[in-house]
Amino acid sequence: MAEEQNKLNQPDTTEEPIAVELAKKQREVSISQFFERNRHLLGFDNKRKALMTTIKEAVDNSLDACEEADILPEIYVNVVDMNNDRFNITIEDNGPGIVKKQIPHIFARLLYGSKFFKLSQSRGQQGIGISASVMYAQLTTGKPAKITSKIDKKHPTHYYELHIDTQKNTPEIVREEIVEEWSDKDHGTKIELDLEGSYQKGDQSIDQYLKQTAIANPHITLIYQPPKGEQLIFARATDKMPRRPVEIKPHPYGVELGRLFQMAKLTEAKTLQSFLMKEFSRVGSGTAKQICENAALLPKTKPKTMSREMVESLMKGINETRIISPPTDCISPIGNDLLEKSLRKEINAEFYTAAVRPPSVYRGNPFIVEVACAYGGEQPADQSMKIYRFANRVPLLYQPGGCGITKSVIATNWRSYGLSQSSGALPVGPITLVVHLASVWVPYTSESKEAIAHYPEIIKEIKLAVQECGRKLAMYIRKKRRIQDESKKRDYIQIYIPHIGSALKEIIGLKDSQEERVNKLLKSVLEKKRGELEEIKVDNPEYDAEWAKIGKEKKKDNKEEKGEKGKEKDKSNKGKQEGKEREKKEDKKKK
Ligand SMILES: Nc1ncnc2c1ncn2[C@@H]1O[C@H](COP(=O)(O)OP(=O)(O)OP(=O)(O)O)[C@@H](O)[C@H]1O
Ligand SMILES: [Mg+2]
Repeated sequence: MAEEQNKLNQPDTTEEPIAVELAKKQREVSISQFFERNRHLLGFDNKRKALMTTIKEAVDNSLDACEEADILPEIYVNVVDMNNDRFNITIEDNGPGIVKKQIPHIFARLLYGSKFFKLSQSRGQQGIGISASVMYAQLTTGKPAKITSKIDKKHPTHYYELHIDTQKNTPEIVREEIVEEWSDKDHGTKIELDLEGSYQKGDQSIDQYLKQTAIANPHITLIYQPPKGEQLIFARATDKMPRRPVEIKPHPYGVELGRLFQMAKLTEAKTLQSFLMKEFSRVGSGTAKQICENAALLPKTKPKTMSREMVESLMKGINETRIISPPTDCISPIGNDLLEKSLRKEINAEFYTAAVRPPSVYRGNPFIVEVACAYGGEQPADQSMKIYRFANRVPLLYQPGGCGITKSVIATNWRSYGLSQSSGALPVGPITLVVHLASVWVPYTSESKEAIAHYPEIIKEIKLAVQECGRKLAMYIRKKRRIQDESKKRDYIQIYIPHIGSALKEIIGLKDSQEERVNKLLKSVLEKKRGELEEIKVDNPEYDAEWAKIGKEKKKDNKEEKGEKGKEKDKSNKGKQEGKEREKKEDKKKK
């Protein structure tokens, strides 16, 4: 009996708990498997974008490599339409080349690169761009990536055909050999891919990306053969390389608790004071002591032994100490002159201006914002403002609605600068804005690097730069209105001058020649009394109509992108409508 009772109390081992069953399904997901399924996160969500993204990733890498090696970049981009939405693309550079051992890892392994761990301004940062393009090509055509690379005259040219083993995220070498190619070339890298894509001109096209890249990087030469039409050559405008950004350490402002805690654990420094001086930029011995004092911690504290509470007081101490802004040499801005020049080449406007902000910091990362604007001239007055966005000299063509740059521009009160704007929309008027964010780490909203995240520090700086341009613009718009009003008044007065002349002729019997003299005299009195009238005109010898046309052709209706575009259009239409209504009301008031 007791035995039976015992049996009843025992758990039934024949049926396993559900958790055990569920546990059997748990498996590690490789990074390549994840992105294979979520390729939209990397910018491969439609055929048109996929083609542009692939070229962008390769060109950005070539530019980064050339700049790191101090070589004036010369890049060939060749796009061949193979029909049925298939394209063959080749990107070749004259950069430093890649050592043989690294080639398979760079091109056929996701999250493998040289830029992730260093705080320095570069186009790439994640170590995922080019291998993602290789993976997309493999996924859509099954063809391997073909890589050619040479590092100098004395070394041979290596050729690889590569696949990615997405289960393991490792390279699979399909073919590997030394080739005779490039006997006359010292160094460089070439990548050839077959992929599914769609080629169209327009605002988000390859042509537009390459043109804007040439604008933001006047030291490069780009030779581009589009799938249709003639070769385009964007020749370099200067032989001077941009200032090479210096690699830096994080700035103490904005460093988060977890990171500070980890840095303290990993440092080689023996004391808190030397830790602060060694691991951060802009902290000398005086500042370090001041931080310790404000944090109520001894400068001799061993960083490795610091508790979470101590790190928290250290953070407080940092925030209470005045620390000079980060050095500017870690950032290489495009520059006011160049930004304005690029606008002059592209847009025939009446008024141009630019503004640069001093360096600032978000989460310990220094950054700079530059803005330029072109107003009036040949730009349509009834459309929303056009914005060209750049991050670390790379044009951002997609996701304008989700970008911190657009958000900052919308949050600016453009009505006070003389433009019409409805709440939550871009201003309406004949205006184009260029905004460039340069940083040692650009916070993109996703791995596809299309839009900038909404960090309050960044939004604030963009707004301040935009406002600076806005104030100068407002002065111009006010002046223009004054001139237009004055011109209207003069026109009215001038209408009456001949009537006065003929009345005088009749009353006091003037001759024709006397009447003419009276008219002339009255006109000169008018000029003298009201002063000389300034002329408003477009005077822009730098405008290049052929250049402006590149990438501007109307694109065909694309169903894949209709959704996003539709929304943007709605917004701007709403803006236009409300703008017009406001103008009508203002007119009524004036009358
Ligand atoms: N054309 C090239 N010449 C020399 N080195 C290159 C070239 N292309 C890529 N590399 C090297 O390969 C690495 C990986 O490139 P990949 O584009 O995958 O990542 P990334 O540029 O570091 O970052 P991101 O994912 O943001 O583009 C780079 O960090 C760079 O060191
Ligand atoms: Mg890259």
